Amino acid sequence: MNPKSEFEKAVYEGEFRTLIDQETLRRRVVEMGRQITKDYGGMQPIIIGVLNGAFLFMADLIRHIELDLEVDFIKISSYGDEKISSGKVMMLKDINAEIQGRHILVVEDIVDTGLSIQFLREKFSRLAPASLRFATLLYKKQNVRVEVQLDYVGFEIPDEFVIGYGLDYKQILRNLPAVFVMD
Ligand code: IMP
Repeated sequence: MNPKSEFEKAVYEGEFRTLIDQETLRRRVVEMGRQITKDYGGMQPIIIGVLNGAFLFMADLIRHIELDLEVDFIKISSYGDEKISSGKVMMLKDINAEIQGRHILVVEDIVDTGLSIQFLREKFSRLAPASLRFATLLYKKQNVRVEVQLDYVGFEIPDEFVIGYGLDYKQILRNLPAVFVMD
């Protein structure tokens, strides 16, 4: 077989090393959903997903949060199409929800340098929510360049470039069902 796409390579040649398999992801997402359900008991939070990377994680996570929640999305970019962060965060799409006085939980796919989280905290804090928390599926703790406060972390991972389960390389490979390391 002579794979024509990165996707085929991943699937047929096992070229990407599995970091977190589907079952491990599923179990941790269920646990996080339960914890959030407990912590926000009686509230109607707005869950804000950070596009594009967080869409898969968020879709799975909210199905394990047993609350009357609302959802919204913001789209930011810090990477461009490369593997190294550009260091600059740009907002590409803003939220529509009114967040003043509301309980806000921001859902990220991965925290790397921490610059995106810092940008989002500053932006949302200015809008005076009742509370502001952050959840991330993956956390590259040793890469963080600024102080970040995370309330829910799925997995701490080493400083390796990962793809799949929403995370991309040059906009592709988001649809792989687990998290792989791309060497
Ligand atoms: P930060 O601002 O450096 O913390 O980076 C956050 C964003 O960079 C994430 O939301 C991802 O979109 C992207 N990112 C960081 N590390 C990776 C990776 O290993 N694979 C794919 N995207 C990544």
